[in-house]
Parts: sequence; structure tokens; C-alpha cells
Amino acid sequence: MNDDSSRTPLVAANWKMNLTETWGVRLLDDLLPRIADHGGVETVVAPPFPALRAVADRLQGASTRLGAQNVHWEEKGAFTGEVAPGMLAEMGVAMVIVGHSERRTLFGETDDQVRRKVMGLRRHELVPIVCVGESEAERDEGATLAVVERQVRIALGDLRNVDGSEIVVAYEPVWAIGTGRTATPEQVHEVHRMIREQLESMLGAEAAARIRILYGGSVNPGNAATLLGLPEVDGGLVGGACLDAGKFADIVAAAAG
Ligand code: PGA
Repeated sequence: MNDDSSRTPLVAANWKMNLTETWGVRLLDDLLPRIADHGGVETVVAPPFPALRAVADRLQGASTRLGAQNVHWEEKGAFTGEVAPGMLAEMGVAMVIVGHSERRTLFGETDDQVRRKVMGLRRHELVPIVCVGESEAERDEGATLAVVERQVRIALGDLRNVDGSEIVVAYEPVWAIGTGRTATPEQVHEVHRMIREQLESMLGAEAAARIRILYGGSVNPGNAATLLGLPEVDGGLVGGACLDAGKFADIVAAAAG
């Protein structure tokens, strides 16, 4: 639970490259009744692109919002295989994950590309969930804070006049993603504090106070109360456990406190 009541906790489900539209809707049939009571927590599900329409339809009337996992920064044009911000906006997408470590490490996404994606999304009033985090080697070298500082500085470097509600940051140590290992509360504390201070110096104290900083990396029902209960943590970005309705609902309940 965060230490600032003005920030509504957010729990985001990153389905990654899982679930067809049929199976995605089935998961929501199971999930939505389980999380309907947690009014104090905002939830978002980010399916693969081909399932967006079916998921958007299934979310009609629910408070859970529609997310996406990637975007291109240009408005349109000859970019085979890419998806533009305006296309996502028209489908009802509210939030888009950018800079996920799988995109950075497997597909070569750079800090500069993340910055352009952030700005492309903002042109359509879409909320980026900007993922940052160090690799295991970077942590071992003592470079964690420097790496995360650089990722945040570049990703958000072009933003001006923000009030903070239009940006989400997710701290996801790369070594914790999909591994069953999680950062310790002390590690989360150190990085989240640094990010919050950095946001203050970049965007001003008022905007920084409104930006939600999520933790991600092997969040599950067994550790969610501890991790999402930390004062600096405003919710979670959940991968593996979000494919199980019961587990994801338990994580949302933990975020509700
Ligand atoms: P995980 O994934 O929960 O499976 O570790 C988190 C993420 O990649 O966002």
C-alpha cells in the first residue's frame, strides 16, 4: 500500500505472447467477477494485439481497463508489422507497456525508442507504463541505480507540463522476471525512492507525487502482500501469475490491502 492516498493502486496484467482471443475472453469470464469488489484498486489487462478487440468487448461495463504491450511511435506509414498509437486509442486502449525488458533484450529496444514511444502515446492521451530495471550483471557491478536513472531520464526526457496521472513507471529487475526470484523489500525501497526523487527533479514535486511506480518481477499471491504493501509501491505489473484468474485476483486483493 502506498504512502500517498492520492495514488490509486494499479495492478497490470501482462499476458505477453499468451492467449488467443477465445482463451483471453474465457480468462476474463473467470477473472472479472473475482475482482469486481476491489473498487479501490485500478486494474488493466494487456493482451496480445489480435485479442484486443475481443477483450475490449468483454471489458464493456467493467472497471478493468484495456492495455497493450507495445506500440510504434509514428502515426502511420511504411513500418511493416508495427502498430500506431492512434490505432490503439481507437480500440479503447488506455495504457501501453513500453520498454519491457523482453523488448529491450530480445528485440533491441533502446532508451531512445522508449522515449519516442512515450511521446507517441501521449499525443493520443494514452498512458505509458514505462518499464525500467537492471540486469543481474548490472546489479552485481553495483550499477543498479545508475542504470535505472538513465532509463528514466531518457524515457521521460521529452515530457513537459505533465500532472503525473498520465505516466506510470514499473520497476522490474530483469533477474526477477519470470524467474521466481523477487527483489527484497530493501532493494525495492532503494530503487523506488531513487525513481521518485528523480521524477521530482525532472517533472516537479506535484507531478512526481501523482506518478504511480509499480513493482514487477515474479509477483505472485504468496509475495504480493509484502511487495505491494511496501510504502513506496503503488501496485504491480504481473506476468506469469496473471494467466491464472485465481492468482491474479489474489494479487489484486493484496494490493487492496
Ligand atoms: P513475471 O513477469 O510476473 O512473470 O515475472 C513480469 C513482467 O514481465 O512484467
